[in-house]
Amino acid sequence: MLFHTSCKSKERLVGKTVIITGANTGIGKETARDLYRRGARVILACRDVQKADATAKEVKSNPPSQPNKEQFQGEPGEVLVYQLDLCSLASVRNCAKDIYKKESAVNILINNAGMVIESFGKTEDGFETQLQTNYLGHFLFTLLLLPKIRASGPGCRIINVSSLAHHYGDIHFDDLNLENSYTMKEAYCQSKLANVLFTVELTRRLKEANIDGITTYSVHPGMVKTDISRNIHSYLLRIMQVVLTPFAPLFVKTSEQGAQTTIYCAVAQECSKESGLYYKDCAVANLTNKVNDTELIAKLWNETMKMVRLEQENNLEELLKKIEKNVLQSVDDTLKNSEKVIPPSNI
Ligand SMILES: NC(=O)c1ccc[n+]([C@@H]2O[C@H](COP(=O)([O-])OP(=O)(O)OC[C@H]3O[C@@H](n4cnc5c(N)ncnc54)[C@H](OP(=O)(O)O)[C@@H]3O)[C@@H](O)[C@H]2O)c1
Repeated sequence: MLFHTSCKSKERLVGKTVIITGANTGIGKETARDLYRRGARVILACRDVQKADATAKEVKSNPPSQPNKEQFQGEPGEVLVYQLDLCSLASVRNCAKDIYKKESAVNILINNAGMVIESFGKTEDGFETQLQTNYLGHFLFTLLLLPKIRASGPGCRIINVSSLAHHYGDIHFDDLNLENSYTMKEAYCQSKLANVLFTVELTRRLKEANIDGITTYSVHPGMVKTDISRNIHSYLLRIMQVVLTPFAPLFVKTSEQGAQTTIYCAVAQECSKESGLYYKDCAVANLTNKVNDTELIAKLWNETMKMVRLEQENNLEELLKKIEKNVLQSVDDTLKNSEKVIPPSNI
């Protein structure tokens, strides 16, 4: 894209651990490339371990396009791969458990993975695919990791990659799976609206429970040339792609350009005291008016807690205590029974 904003921060991340979901390609991969060169221990949390291993190698051997920038001088960090399939709540629980077992800290969590799919489908947990991949899986992953993130503070950050599309979304409480009215657009917009409402509600609950040291962000990366449309087969889209491709560099960002706002929210000092806001082009942007609807937001939180099978707790502090106890217990059981096959636990 001809005119775009880059993250100017020179911050280094030596000693910091960053988790990026869906980091084997697109915006997530470019975010990993940047943060690795800033010295971070970067975890690629991906569903396809083979693809992610190849990405890890590629990220280590190829620097960002401007390697001479001050933030990339000094030793790079590490890149690791963890298996995470957001379409399976059991996989989300197992990945969180693995992280508790093997990582001493989680300083930055970037919920980046996302998908768009033309045809209606359901996950093994019985939820519409976009709803679970883009929203439910990340909601559960974040809450399971929250005690760990809290213990890694201060200065920890949680970034939810949403989209401008959230402005066009509604939460369909009577049919969250959109079984009766599925369209790709409606499902995507609903899931991306849920991402920003989750960010806002998590921030409110952290504040209410006097939990300091964690800030949250939601992000619109811009219109970015990635593989996100791989599950869309409509002729109209294909024709538009052929017609518009020669002009794309004028108004579509590269993946590296598309990663800049996520990187800004992950590292910049300017936003280190801000929390719960929405960003595009490395600056705060306007959120939908729905963020003022406290009833809607509370209802979404409660419904989501039921869907991901977490026990309702009015106070976040109580919830975190319970989650930590259950995750650690389940890590202990795994260690004790490392020879046996453990059924997925209901953390
Ligand atoms: N591109 C844009 O113009 C644009 C605009 C606004 C917002 N966004 C948001 O930006 C984020 C990154 O998208 P992108 O454009 O970089 O798309 P992308 O290139 O398609 O990358 C998406 C990533 O998500 C992963 N993913 C999909 N389903 C998953 C699952 N069940 N479990 C774990 N990982 C899964 C993919 O893994 P596989 O490779 O295994 O499929 C891939 O690594 C998404 O949240 C998207 O909604 C993108």
